[in-house]
Amino acid sequence: MRKLLKTKSVIVAGLLCTSSLAQAEEVEVLHWWTSGGEAAALNVLKDDLSGQGVGWTDMPVAGGGGEQAMTVLRARVTAGNAPTAVQGLGFDIQDWAAQGALADLNDVAAKEGWDNVVPDALKAFAKHDGKWVSAPVNVHSTNWVWANKAVLDANGIAQPASWDEFVAAVEALKAAGITPIAHGGQAWQDATIFDAVAMSTLGPDGYKAAFVDLDEGTLGGDAMKEAFDRMAFIRDNVDENFSGRDWNLATAMVINGEAGFQMMGDWAKGEFLNADKVPGEDFLCFRFPGTADQVTFNADQFMMFDQGGSVSAEQAALASAILSPAFQSAFNVVKGSVPARTDVSDADFDACGKQGMKDLAAAAASGNLFGSMAHGHAAPASVKNAVYDVVTAHFNGEYDSETAVVELVDAVSIAK
Ligand code: BGC
Repeated sequence: MRKLLKTKSVIVAGLLCTSSLAQAEEVEVLHWWTSGGEAAALNVLKDDLSGQGVGWTDMPVAGGGGEQAMTVLRARVTAGNAPTAVQGLGFDIQDWAAQGALADLNDVAAKEGWDNVVPDALKAFAKHDGKWVSAPVNVHSTNWVWANKAVLDANGIAQPASWDEFVAAVEALKAAGITPIAHGGQAWQDATIFDAVAMSTLGPDGYKAAFVDLDEGTLGGDAMKEAFDRMAFIRDNVDENFSGRDWNLATAMVINGEAGFQMMGDWAKGEFLNADKVPGEDFLCFRFPGTADQVTFNADQFMMFDQGGSVSAEQAALASAILSPAFQSAFNVVKGSVPARTDVSDADFDACGKQGMKDLAAAAASGNLFGSMAHGHAAPASVKNAVYDVVTAHFNGEYDSETAVVELVDAVSIAK
């Protein structure tokens, strides 16, 4: 028996040794990139790392916008078992940094000159107290519309340039018996549409006043009520099975010609590309009517969780791979986003990607670049969740627009 115990402990010690060796050579990455287009983009990163001899343990947590992933992350950190690297957005990154949970990436950032090439709008989230704490992967934006070109052509509909033209296009599709708007009824998707709709009625100053400065007068004002009225019109023009549908299934409805439009961030383009569709030929991408000069952005970043000590060689390799100009182009071409560096050529990007890069640069230069409320770049999670609750309750008919603005003021003032 004694001998058996001894043998057993030798085996256990051996296993422990193997697993810590394995850990030293690989990264465990928690993310929510589970759709076809997202997985294709993620493979670009996995391949890059495997080329450098760094292994990859995948920890996918489905759920667009990342709410479920953040719940899993909190459980892992509470259990003292944080993953090596975690996809994160905006204010969430700053929260983890303030708790001291993130590794210091300053050495790799200094060696590679990140300060000179990453725009200030991203540094505001990637740096904390002068330290780089996450590696920016991309810049997405939420104020896009995706359309099936053949469906529009067959119904004599031109790309709508104003809200009134959009309303007319939607009415024409409805009259033709086609679902005008593909949508998935999940709080984060309702809120994603709301980013663009609110920008269209509030304008850039109003958007900032409402969602960044949390000004009560703007949150409860007429332009906000108008935004809720527009949301009600959108709600009236989705199909009856919209509730709970994943965003990529809504994108598939546009790809397959079952619906005319989807309002969604440019990760939707990844689905069109994954289905071999070509911008300008099969589908159209354009800014939500009334927001042509503005960009509501969100940037995916990988936070490197402190594994006890300084940043590990694998974390440094991952961060360095993410920021390399070649990766920034290769990954974002597939993902639908645009590079997180300002010095990457647009040569390999399709027409929507080229427009995205141009719009981002122009919006940054003219003061028209704003963080997405829906994707955690305008206000901290508590406020974001308060906005989600009101927007979703209104979308589902619980409140009329007048009640919604009152509820919005209340919910935000409690949350902030
Ligand atoms: C992320 C995107 C992702 C989308 C849908 C957003 O919050 O920034 O990278 O594709 O959610 O999952």
